[in-house]
Amino acid sequence: MDFSLSDEHKMIQEMARSFAQKEVAPVAAELDQKSEFPARHLPKMAELGLMGMMVPPEWGGSGLDALSYVLALEEIAVACASTAVTMSVNNSLYSSPILNFGNDFQKEKYLKPFAEGKQLGAYALSEPGAGSDAASQKTTATLKGDKFILKGTKNFITNGPNADAMIVYAMTDKEKRHKGISAFVVDKTLPGFSVGKIEKKLGICASSTSEIVLDNCEVPKENLLGEVGQGFSIAMNTLDGGRIGIATQAIGIARAAFEAAAKYSTEREAFGGPISQFQAIQHFLADMGTNIDAGRLLIHRAAYMKDQGQNINKVGAMAKLFCSETAMWVSTKAIQIHGGYGYIKEYPVERYFRDAKITEIYEGTSEIQRLVISRAILKEITG
Ligand code: CAA
Repeated sequence: MDFSLSDEHKMIQEMARSFAQKEVAPVAAELDQKSEFPARHLPKMAELGLMGMMVPPEWGGSGLDALSYVLALEEIAVACASTAVTMSVNNSLYSSPILNFGNDFQKEKYLKPFAEGKQLGAYALSEPGAGSDAASQKTTATLKGDKFILKGTKNFITNGPNADAMIVYAMTDKEKRHKGISAFVVDKTLPGFSVGKIEKKLGICASSTSEIVLDNCEVPKENLLGEVGQGFSIAMNTLDGGRIGIATQAIGIARAAFEAAAKYSTEREAFGGPISQFQAIQHFLADMGTNIDAGRLLIHRAAYMKDQGQNINKVGAMAKLFCSETAMWVSTKAIQIHGGYGYIKEYPVERYFRDAKITEIYEGTSEIQRLVISRAILKEITG
């Protein structure tokens, strides 16, 4: 077993770190404060090949492995969690299912420009009444001639207002529950498609989140992804990979909070010296550093297994669960180390704390991750 990164992996990590620290980090607080979508970063991210990292070059991507993706994404997340989730959704939740389940027509039209970073994608699964229970879809898709007519409302859609197209899940046969769900690539220009309410959020304020309204939206038959009834399986398979991305976003946030707190502890003086001389602070730093390293190892194992074509359902959920809870814990302690200064907007740990919370919720809450993990463990035991 070799824990060292190859020269190529180090180069990708360094390229992402350099861009993130020079261009993304300096404006992260401003974008957060204005709730401004990080559109300004997307052309450079496209140029660096960050928007379709695991997509082969023939379909506009960088043709890299999952380890390269998480190395780059962590660097972006350290700088700005909102920019990281924008990147993660385009890579993991939009591009991956088209690459894995799409035909050549769909890849040419709906993967290539998105992997090149010329267009942006989203993933529309959640509904007002279908969050954790994703199979309870109310959106319907009815075949009429050469079109599916989609009717319903999706909510909490990351990239929603800025996306050029998205993967939409809808019921083609209500009687069959999850086996009656199908997946569609829906272009924002299609008749009946509109962006609904834009959400104001606690954290990741620069990332865009909205409802998507499908009012008898006319989707050409050729935009069906995979087979009729295969949608739930596509959604779950996609989330297995997506969860590695959110785990990475979380570990990036945790690292940013940890580095800020460690630095502050050497500068802030109390009782005649820097607070880093106190054992209480030292123990916080030791636990923060240990948990971040443990989380990153879970991510790298999941990425390695993905690259080997192995089932990542359990290991992806483990990485997501541990890293998101680590991000929340580390950012809480980072505020504690800063004392009152951690609670005001002048210091970045307040933003890290707000940004960390969503990682315990989206792409499956911590409770859903525990359910996925425990089901896999019991299956391993009972065979
Ligand atoms: N890959 C492929 N197929 C899978 C699968 C996987 N990982 N997991 C389950 N399936 C299949 C099962 O094999 C089963 O198929 P068969 O009936 O043919 O055997 C079918 O799906 C149903 O499986 P379950 O019985 O396990 O389904 P369930 O209704 O009990 O739900 C769940 C399982 C894990 C709770 C699932 O509903 C889930 O993951 N919920 C959370 C949803 C979620 O993460 N939403 C996030 C929204 S996206 C988002 O947040 C994006 C963003 O903004 C960034």
